[in-house]
Amino acid sequence: MSDNIATLEINGEKHEFPIIEGTENEIAIDIKKLRGSTGGVITIDPGYKNTGSCQSGITFLDGEKGVLRYRGYAIEDLAEKADFLEVAYLLIFGELPTKEQLEKFHKDIKKESVVDDDVKKILDAFPKSAHPMGVLASLTNALTAFNPSSVNVDSEEDMYKAIVKILGKFPVLVAWTMRKKQGLPLDYGDSSLGYVENVLKMMFKQPNEAYTLNPIVVNALDKLLILHADHEQNCSTSTVRIVGSSHAGLFASLAAGISALWGPLHGGANQAVLEMLEGIRQDGGDTKKYMAKAKDKSDPFRLMGFGHRVYKNFDPRATIIKKAADEVLGDLGVEDPILDIAKGLESEALEDKYFVDRKLYPNVDFYSGIIYRAMGIPTEMFTVMFALGRLPGWIAQWREMRLRKEPIGRPRQVYIGENHREFKNISNR
Ligand code: SDX
Repeated sequence: MSDNIATLEINGEKHEFPIIEGTENEIAIDIKKLRGSTGGVITIDPGYKNTGSCQSGITFLDGEKGVLRYRGYAIEDLAEKADFLEVAYLLIFGELPTKEQLEKFHKDIKKESVVDDDVKKILDAFPKSAHPMGVLASLTNALTAFNPSSVNVDSEEDMYKAIVKILGKFPVLVAWTMRKKQGLPLDYGDSSLGYVENVLKMMFKQPNEAYTLNPIVVNALDKLLILHADHEQNCSTSTVRIVGSSHAGLFASLAAGISALWGPLHGGANQAVLEMLEGIRQDGGDTKKYMAKAKDKSDPFRLMGFGHRVYKNFDPRATIIKKAADEVLGDLGVEDPILDIAKGLESEALEDKYFVDRKLYPNVDFYSGIIYRAMGIPTEMFTVMFALGRLPGWIAQWREMRLRKEPIGRPRQVYIGENHREFKNISNR
């Protein structure tokens, strides 16, 4: 490959394409002109395993080295030294906020932390059996109807107003979604509290008792939300970007991202991990049986919480969460046999040829559910907590796409259907 140029030979004809290099020395072939210069040739790449959708300055991953950075800051530093609202500001605006900037950001968010009471009528229409992710996606989309100014946002100022609106209202929807299933009154918490503290109060305050914050739980949730905050062009973020590229409003784009995250191959894995571990526990803790199922190609079972499209070494978030799980359960005095089963499964998989050959390691979802459960969060709410953490990342990526005025996303295809054929009347079919 000559410097900065890639040459493609098709039917004896050579075509040259520029090579672009990122700030972390990633290389990409810019094929913007491929179809035009070759008379219609395109590339195809199911699941986009080899295809970049954009250039982004928000999050950097190195899957081989297990590196994750938000705007250049190592995830390990942010998880230990920053709080979730600081990280949200960093992801969205590109810099760690000063004290004054953070206070103004939080003040602007608090001003927008009330949800139109008519949203409760939509919530009431759901059966208690509804999965919280479906409820949350619907309520997030419904917010557009009550905040129409959040749709046509071309100026940074209008984008900012839509951003603080959703950062204020989303935690309320998260809490209401959980409390509705539990038959509890819908609460607004207390705006004098910190962002994460107020999420916990809205979720857990009992109507007949004062609510006391547990600093261990506050710190654990803050850390978990930071660890989930962004992850470059994953399935749900790519969904937010492509829906946003049609200039659908921010809330509609986020609702689409919530739906993508719901899937068990993506954010829904944290719920699936707990259900899998619970199933193994009820099955007598026979991890070897489930390892065999995961390797059996005739069995659709996969070891949930294992494997990753990008991390082919370890997921740095899993390392941090595994350590936090020990600390939180110890501090809370919670003995959970599920944690021991998880650790047993992990150590078996790390020595198993099938998993080692395919570079399948625990991912962010493998241990997070264990902490959520110890915090008293229902299993069906685990992916909702993932969405709460991912919200600033989705917002940051949507804002970057809009500010860069990126074109509407519209992939091509290779047609493999019927060639032209004449219409047949029904009497002749
Ligand atoms: C998240 O992209 C992100 O950044 C996502 C995320 C984020 O922060 O946004 O990190 C969050 O979604 C984490 C992933 C959560 N999902 C799970 O834990 C579900 C279980 N994992 C898998 O379904 C799978 O590993 C994926 C979906 C995560 C990745 O799938 P890929 O990259 O498409 O890999 P693949 O399906 O092509 O698998 C390669 C091989 C296959 O075997 P062979 O055909 O080569 O024989 O590995 C096998 C797969 O069968 N394999 C597994 C497995 N994961 C992959 N076998 C058993 N158990 C598994 N978990």
